[in-house]
Amino acid sequence: MSNRPSPTESAAITAAEATDPLAQWGETAPRGGRAVLNRLLKGDVKVPMFLGQTLIKSLRDQGYNTTTSALCEFVDNSFQWGATEVRVYIVQRKRDKTFRILVVDNGQGMSPSVQQVAMSFGGSMAYEARTGISRFGMGMKTAGLSISPTFDNYTWDEPRAYYNVTLDVNEIGSNRSNLLEVPTPQMNDDLPSDIVDIITRPTAWPTNPQESQTLMATSREELHERLGQSGTIVYLPDCDRLTWKTEKKLADHAIKEMGRVYRRFIAQGKRLYVNNRLVEAFDPTYQMPTARHTQVEGLTETRSRLIFSKPIEVPVADGSAKTTRVTVKLFALPYEAWVGLGRTTLKNTLHVYGDFTVSFMRNDREVDIAATVRALNLNKHSTNNWLRLEIDFNGEADEGFGIASNKQGVRLRDFAAEKIRNLIEEPLAALRKELAELKARHVALKSSSTVSEAEQRATGAEGLQGKSLPVEAETDEQKADLEKNLRALATGLKRDSETDLQAFDRVKRSRFLTRTVHNDYYPFFDSEYKYERVILTVNTAHPFYQKVWEPLQSLSRTTAAGAAGEDEDAEANPDAANTCTEVLVGLQMLFFSLARTQAQMAGHDQNEERKQLFKNFRKEWSANLETQLRSDLTADL
Ligand SMILES: Nc1ncnc2c1ncn2[C@@H]1O[C@H](COP(=O)(O)OP(=O)(O)OP(=O)(O)O)[C@@H](O)[C@H]1O
Ligand SMILES: [Mg+2]
Repeated sequence: MSNRPSPTESAAITAAEATDPLAQWGETAPRGGRAVLNRLLKGDVKVPMFLGQTLIKSLRDQGYNTTTSALCEFVDNSFQWGATEVRVYIVQRKRDKTFRILVVDNGQGMSPSVQQVAMSFGGSMAYEARTGISRFGMGMKTAGLSISPTFDNYTWDEPRAYYNVTLDVNEIGSNRSNLLEVPTPQMNDDLPSDIVDIITRPTAWPTNPQESQTLMATSREELHERLGQSGTIVYLPDCDRLTWKTEKKLADHAIKEMGRVYRRFIAQGKRLYVNNRLVEAFDPTYQMPTARHTQVEGLTETRSRLIFSKPIEVPVADGSAKTTRVTVKLFALPYEAWVGLGRTTLKNTLHVYGDFTVSFMRNDREVDIAATVRALNLNKHSTNNWLRLEIDFNGEADEGFGIASNKQGVRLRDFAAEKIRNLIEEPLAALRKELAELKARHVALKSSSTVSEAEQRATGAEGLQGKSLPVEAETDEQKADLEKNLRALATGLKRDSETDLQAFDRVKRSRFLTRTVHNDYYPFFDSEYKYERVILTVNTAHPFYQKVWEPLQSLSRTTAAGAAGEDEDAEANPDAANTCTEVLVGLQMLFFSLARTQAQMAGHDQNEERKQLFKNFRKEWSANLETQLRSDLTADL
């Protein structure tokens, strides 16, 4: 199909354009803007650099990821301008379910002249500053408009002298003058009732206000007193663009995100409330002694381990000789102390699986957090949940980190990423290895149930085998010796959930036993025939374990663990999980049968020469397998 307009269509456009040069403007375009543009197109008038009527509407689409990230612009300003207490309110009207949002702080406030400038686009008292949060002169306006077409600012630098400026996209859009001006601030000795109500009444969420809400004031008079010497209020009365539809979801998300974004401010004693609930710091690196995770009951270890903290110099721009300091820290979470806590605690309370691997801190305010960062070669990996990187930089490094004016994410440029990559590469690989080993050991320990299944089935099949396994103990004395040896063997194979007696009982009844080792120089499996038992040893350090056995095992665990809610990778797919269990059992049988065959072929006297031959065979096989399994790493070379 052709995109070209048909002759009649193109004639219609041409005709319309002949009468109206703005025929292609959309229906929702501002009328004032249309009038101004028409006037400008006629010529003989100075054309302003910014067409306010249209620009202000376009800025509504600046693109904040979520309502919370837009609200952070206000909290940023509050902290930047000296607030020690900031309160955010997200309130739904009962009547028509529409939302209002308000942010109040006790910062230094603004004089009327500063306020007027501050309400203009590009107007800033910290323009291009690189040491604080503010830099672009845009945040308050773009964030406000991204949520609500009207937005009010009240500020005071002496008691009860509240200066107000309102920006209203629709009003500005219908203004017909070529040059738009910020309205003159209006002085009020009181605040409108809707603002007073929001601040002095409990919000609908959190429910149970007596217990979970700390009101700033409960009456108009008390409020004036509390608003004190100076401060600022941003008020969005007609929120028409919000990420979620309920007060609970919006406030919940704000609490969760802001606790992390402003963790350092909160740790310094600054108070931040959302819907009258105090926001606690959440530290994804688990270092802060007062952060939320430290209150989790029964935690024996509250801190991650700092692997390193290193400053590096990063060019301020590509090719620049001037550099700025960036600090990179790597942490290991206390795997051994925490892994047993269960999935619910790890996920919902400690947020270990929250995709918080790399946190970027710009002037102490988190601007991004991610599970993977391709520019740093930090890709998806099973150990990501258990390690953390925290990268601290200041505004001078903004170019390298690709900070945009809405400050809601980094887009690392290679000249900066390269420096960080070089620094983290080796320690990260070492930490990944260490964590993978810990994980493998843990999984091996937990895997006993599937192993039992294979052990039981192989033992059960003994009666059906054509050739029976060699018998060692014939005399009573030999039998007593065997019993003693089995007791010792049981001690070594005892599981966490077993008593000594239960372990002995299991070992005694089973002709097939499995254990694990973690040893870089050991074959992928080993087997021996001892005490009339086929003992299979699986090496968790070998790529066979990591690429075949362990993945199969974790998939097979999904039904049981997923149902019990204790496994981080658990997904509810029982059919696939059952198949994996069967395949794993089959795989173990393969090894058991091989081990059995070798025991059989070593004969009743367990011929040393043959045993040695089999041993060498396993060693060579293991080396060949390792080379093949690792070959995918070099295939691209
Ligand atoms: N809560 C506040 N208390 C005092 N002054 C404020 C407050 N909020 C805004 N301002 C003033 O308004 C100005 C403009 O704020 P805005 O957020 O639009 O831009 P900015 O903070 O300067 O830069 P950025 O675009 O990086 O946020 C600020 O520079 C500051 O002077
Ligand atoms: Mg700002």
